[in-house]
This record gives sequence, structure tokens and C-alpha cells, in this order.
Amino acid sequence: MTFERPNIARMQGYKPGEQLDGGNIIKLNTNENPYPPAPAVTEALQDIDTAALRRYPPPTASTFRQAVANLHGIQPENIIATNGGDELLRLALTTFVSPGACIVTTQPSYSLYPVLAEIQGCEYREIALNDDWSMPQDFLGQLEQTAASMCLLVNPHAPTGQLLSADYLETISKGFPGVLLIDEAYVDFVDEDQAYSAIELATTSDNVLLLRTLSKGYSLAGLRFGYGIGNRSLIEPMQFKTRDSYNTDLIAQKLATAAIQSQDYARETWKSVRQERKRLHTELEALGFMVAPSQTNFLLATAPAGSDAESLYQGLKQRQILVRHFQQPRLEDKLRISVGTPDENSKLLSALAELL
Ligand SMILES: Cc1ncc(COP(=O)(O)O)c(C=O)c1O
Repeated sequence: MTFERPNIARMQGYKPGEQLDGGNIIKLNTNENPYPPAPAVTEALQDIDTAALRRYPPPTASTFRQAVANLHGIQPENIIATNGGDELLRLALTTFVSPGACIVTTQPSYSLYPVLAEIQGCEYREIALNDDWSMPQDFLGQLEQTAASMCLLVNPHAPTGQLLSADYLETISKGFPGVLLIDEAYVDFVDEDQAYSAIELATTSDNVLLLRTLSKGYSLAGLRFGYGIGNRSLIEPMQFKTRDSYNTDLIAQKLATAAIQSQDYARETWKSVRQERKRLHTELEALGFMVAPSQTNFLLATAPAGSDAESLYQGLKQRQILVRHFQQPRLEDKLRISVGTPDENSKLLSALAELL
């Protein structure tokens, strides 16, 4: 006997990367920032008056949204605060995709998307990336054939690290009649000479929604805070109809605001991650890995000929180093490795050298 809806009974659920306890583990499997949150976050936590928790929090996180509006030069009405970027994804599907309708993304892509599609009871379609992980030439044509309500593009892409151009995104947004959700979870790590902002595209188009998160760039994966940016016609139905009444709590709002206001600190961590990304890329190649160029805080590395990605993953795990191995078409011969601190990366590289 089950009371689950048939689609829920059938589905598997999202499998998060392992979160092992233990002080000595080098955790390079879930793309967390290797540096701690800004000192202002600690101060904000220490300043919290627990008596204030008696009351409900500001329902739309108004102070946080104003801080984000100041940062990006947009209006708070163009912003929704969410409990992690994942909540924005769920809200977007609930609000803009009817059960039975279709959502489209690339293959490969973020492994939460098919799970959310199952929950919503909508169809999930994938359009395969080229072998070098670039977009297929006729992506828009293939997208049109699906008659999808929503297209989700991770940019820069997970799990491959590729960055799409601003022009390309604009072309897709103009040619696609549904909602284009651009998942910018990793945007903070893009090299400065390649960086551009899709914010104007989002606020001036009626069908572009951007996802941002504090989990990666602001070292706050444990806090669960993200936000969406878009035209008011996309933000308002989520803000005033489908969002949980108090979807972000008071403590999280205060800490997230302190983090967003600590731009100089955050930028230093992004710079360190980029430097280490470059070193890790070069040294993994020296070990025989084939490494996709990455604009994120992780690298997708194909195991050297004669070795096996799954065994390398297991061997690293025995040495208390976690990386991600996906049992998925096109990824099973690869490891996805988050960029750690210089010391963590050096330990990973020595362990891999030993295993190989
Ligand atoms: C591509 C992508 N989008 C969104 C998220 C959501 O992150 P969070 O819910 O921690 O903000 C993640 C997290 O790993 C991600 O990889």
C-alpha cells in the first residue's frame, strides 16, 4: 500500500554528493568554496539577537534584496530570495511548467533537473552536447521541436565547466518561446577577461530567469541561500503566489546580506580559486588526464588511458579524498574535481600520482 502519487512512487530522488563527517577528509566532490565565509558573516551571526526569532522574518527578505539590487544596479522587484538556488529551480518549475508539459536541458547537465521534472510530473528532454562539450549547432531547432515550456542552461556549465557567450544566450532567449532559465551557480569563478553580465538580458527580456547562489562564490553552502533575477512578470508570480510564506529565515537573511556586502573578500576567494584551477588543470594533464577547460570551481578530467575513473575515485576515497564520479553515459570515464586550497590540491595530485 502506498499513498505516493504514481510519479513519486516511480522516481529515485536526488543523490547528493557524499557528505562524510571527519576532520581529515579532503572534500573535493560538491564544488564548495575551499575558503571560509567572510568575517562579516561571523560578526553578523554573533550579533543576532535570539529574542528577534520570536517573530516571523521579513517575508521577501527585503534587506537582502536591496543589498543585491545595489550590487547589480537593478531594482529589488527584479529579485527573489530563495532557500538555496535549488528552491528557485523548484519554484520556477511549479510556477511556469504545467504537469505534462516539457522541460529541456543539455546532456549532461545538473542532475537535480530530472528529479524536479519527475516531481512536477512534466516531461524531461535532453539535447546532447558535442563531444567537446560545446552546444550543438542546431540546438535552437531541436529545442523548438520539443515545444518545451522551459529550457534550463547551466552557464558556466556543470559538470563540464564550459562558458557560453552573451550573444549565444541572447539568441536562444529571442528564439525560444518559453522560459529560459540560466543557472549561474558558478558564474563568480569566470576569468575576469571572459566575464560578462546576463543581468540586463534577464531584466529586459520577458522570458529569462537567472539563478544565483551564495553556496559557491560566497562559501555558504551550509546556509542555503540563493536568489533569482528576472523581469517582474517572472519574479512576481513566484514572489507572491508560489513561494512558501517565509521561505528564508531571519538568521540566513542576515548572514546572506553580510556576505553579499563583503564583495572584496569574496572576490579574493574567487581569484585564489581561479589560480589554483589553472595549476590543477596543468598538473592533472601532466599526470595524463584529459581536462576540459573550465570557467567554474571544478574540473572535469578524463582518466588517463589504462586507468579507470571509478577505481581512481575509490582509491582516493580510501585516502580520505572525495571527488565526484558519475555513473552516467559520457561521464563514467571521468572525475569531477572541485578546486580546493593549494594544500588540498597538492595532496590530491600526489595521491593520484601514487594511484596511477
Ligand atoms: C548547476 C547547479 N545549479 C544550482 C545549484 C544549487 O545550489 P544551491 O541550492 O546550493 O544554491 C547547484 C549546486 O550544486 C548546481 O551545481
